[in-house]
Amino acid sequence: MAITVPPVVAVTRRLPAPVEAALAERFDCRFNASDKPLDAAGLRQALTSSDAVVCTVTDRIDAAVLGVEPVRTRLLANFGVGHEHIDLAAARALGIAVTNTPGVLTDDTADLAIALMLMASRGLGSGERELRAGAWTGWSPTHHLGHRLSGKALGIIGMGRIGRAVARRAVHGFGMRLVYACRTPLPVGETALLDAVPLELDAVFAEADVVSLHVPSNAATHHLVDRRRLALMRRHGILVNTSRGGVVDEVALVGALERGEIAAAGLDVYEQEPRVSPGLLALDNVVLLPHLGSATVESRTAMGMRACENLVAWSEGRPLPDRVA
Ligand code: DGY
Repeated sequence: MAITVPPVVAVTRRLPAPVEAALAERFDCRFNASDKPLDAAGLRQALTSSDAVVCTVTDRIDAAVLGVEPVRTRLLANFGVGHEHIDLAAARALGIAVTNTPGVLTDDTADLAIALMLMASRGLGSGERELRAGAWTGWSPTHHLGHRLSGKALGIIGMGRIGRAVARRAVHGFGMRLVYACRTPLPVGETALLDAVPLELDAVFAEADVVSLHVPSNAATHHLVDRRRLALMRRHGILVNTSRGGVVDEVALVGALERGEIAAAGLDVYEQEPRVSPGLLALDNVVLLPHLGSATVESRTAMGMRACENLVAWSEGRPLPDRVA
């Protein structure tokens, strides 16, 4: 009787316990007990010593790490939907398949975008800082006045799963008016339900009171929000970014906020994570979160289970459910 040896799977970061248990049941797992992000040498070691790697946004798997010679790894099962940290072309050239985990983190990321809109429009971050600093002197009719979100115009850039989930919350929950820019227009039914108006990209920046970004990070979206587009925004405008840091030119954003060209920003992602531009840290009209979009027990567990499903399909020679390369 042939003895089948389970594939060796390197897991670059600690994952929720049920996910690690599910992986360990099927595979010979090499977990990263320290949970420290792997450097290039650590990633290279994982690629050469494992049949598959469960990687994530903190792993820069570029052409240099992948190399030019075939490695042992046949599958990169990314934990997360964004995969700009993996050089897909270089992986493809080496015959390495890549999968991601779409769909399971949509609601939590959309909730966080709405939370950032509320925090930025009502100045909730600076209000909390004031109270914690012992600087609150009591209620007053003119103390810490923000702006109402309800009824305002929301501009969404990118109408994929998350963009549409944000749109539903904003339109149905807050009575916001929706304008959007997207390569593929919404289907007729959804357009009617959301009363959504498609516009050219620049027109969304000029028209909306709040602009929320929901595009993937790639060469076409790098610094999509630059000094010129920030200058198109309304002076009371708010920019919200829960997509990827590289979509916004952080230096230009700091300048626009300092000069009062826009009123506020709510950010969950940064160009050089975990580094945040000192200029942003110094501003009171920016809400800064540490990349928490999908950070719920529910999403992170579902993301891990989805990565596991891709691994199981691969190990059984079935088509990969979430193949991106
Ligand atoms: C995602 O899924 O893209 C999250 O931002 C974590 O990488």
